[in-house]
Amino acid sequence: MTVSTLEETIIRTRDVSVYYGEKRAVSNINMDIKRNSVTAFIGPSGCGKSTLLRSMNRMNDLVPSCRVTGSITVDGTDINSPNVNIEGLRQVVGMVFQRANPFFKSIYENIAFAPRFHGLTDKRKLDEVVEESLRKAALWDEVKDRLRESALSLSGGQQQRLCIARAIAMQPTVLLLDEPASALDPISTMKIEELVMTLKDEYTIVIVTHNLHQAARVSEKTAFFLLGELVEYNDTSKMFTSPDHEKTEAYISGRFG
Ligand SMILES: Nc1ncnc2c1ncn2[C@@H]1O[C@H](COP(=O)(O)OP(=O)(O)O)[C@@H](O)[C@H]1O
Ligand SMILES: [Mg+2]
Repeated sequence: MTVSTLEETIIRTRDVSVYYGEKRAVSNINMDIKRNSVTAFIGPSGCGKSTLLRSMNRMNDLVPSCRVTGSITVDGTDINSPNVNIEGLRQVVGMVFQRANPFFKSIYENIAFAPRFHGLTDKRKLDEVVEESLRKAALWDEVKDRLRESALSLSGGQQQRLCIARAIAMQPTVLLLDEPASALDPISTMKIEELVMTLKDEYTIVIVTHNLHQAARVSEKTAFFLLGELVEYNDTSKMFTSPDHEKTEAYISGRFG
């Protein structure tokens, strides 16, 4: 085991600001995220949750006007340093979006595609990766007899778990989930929440949610954002019972947002 894996903090942000052109969307964020924990990002729409989340695996690189200042380290590595390999970073820091986006391929291929692309060609090993990833995403039992069917034949909730399985297949350390259940029915939402709670044993999870009950149920730490600023970052139990800030109190009691 290397020294870094003994460290409690896996993601550390220091004075992180994110701009779209001249406009600052996220301001001076300082945050330490603990390994093998679930952290929830909450706050009204447009407050910068997705922007900050996307900066943690450089998804913002895809937006030409976007600029990130300050420092973000993952496992001690400055992810914005010029010698960081972005594909490698996104392998370590996987991401799942609000709308399930499976490939137009079979269930099996959705999982096998990236590992094969990265050099895993042995059929039996690929089968193992597919099964293990689907098991970890709590989807195996539902799809094991239909692996060759199109991923698009799955329900929305199953597609979202498939996307989580696809991320898991790359053996990430961190999983970033941006409102993964907001397009799903209550039962599928519950399955995603249960999944998040089991996955934290192996992965560090950061989940954006507009559902405060969901944040309270699944996370150990909650970060509340307002107009691009981190208003409060606290233990979830404290945040939802006796928050330190008046604005947090107002938000969680439903007075705005
Ligand atoms: N691709 C983009 N180009 C320009 N502005 C953006 C882009 N994405 C987000 N923004 C702006 O950044 C701010 C934060 O947005 P976002 O991170 O999506 O918030 P949230 O996820 O909390 O709803 C908003 O004002 C939004 O309009
Ligand atoms: Mg968002």
